[in-house]
Amino acid sequence: MALRLGDIAPNFKAETSQGPIDFHEFIGDSWTILFSHPDDYTPVCTTELSAVALSYADFQSRGVKLIGLSANNVDSHAGWIKDIDNLHPEGPKLDFPIIADESREVSTLYGMLDNLDKTNVDKKGIPFTVRTVFIIDPKKVIRLTLSYPASTGRNFPELLRVIDSLQLGDKHKITTPANWKKGDKVIVHPSVQGEQVKELFGDKVETVYPYLRFTPDPSTAQA
Ligand code: BEZ
Repeated sequence: MALRLGDIAPNFKAETSQGPIDFHEFIGDSWTILFSHPDDYTPVCTTELSAVALSYADFQSRGVKLIGLSANNVDSHAGWIKDIDNLHPEGPKLDFPIIADESREVSTLYGMLDNLDKTNVDKKGIPFTVRTVFIIDPKKVIRLTLSYPASTGRNFPELLRVIDSLQLGDKHKITTPANWKKGDKVIVHPSVQGEQVKELFGDKVETVYPYLRFTPDPSTAQA
């Protein structure tokens, strides 16, 4: 059965570009983003990994670990990482592990294999992965999944935006509206009713409908 939001991210052991890992040990008590890309030495994947290497500090500042995956071996990853780093010679080098999942063990466990693009296969015709993302919280609970086709590079700032929303929602009883970004107004969680509204948000609640109540972003709101 497909992995669902709320499931514990299944554990596995794997070889990576930075040595062997046990996934649960790797997560430890951090937020983690596990993301697959189809194949080493392919154009869209190269631009994606370069973009992630360049924005790695933004993930680290939010306490997020990154781990990539493609169905190639460690030697292939090592050569390809040089190409990725050469794409942005002035920027930081790629400094997170990429799982070497030539056997498709992890990609099968996480439902990452391509069933759409019949050209996205290895020389034996075995599917590579699509562009899957799992955001996993410090309790190892899956909090977001995304699957993009091999043809479409992802928007990594969107993952930072989701992290900001999830971390804020875990701390305060709020949700975030469409197209929200850090600093914008947030929504009082529907479970907050009666006296609790004032207790948690004081007078700073703008009620549009009884079920749609905005309040300033608690992480940036002035006292
Ligand atoms: C790419 O990264 O460009 C790519 C990989 C597999 C299939 C299609 C595109």
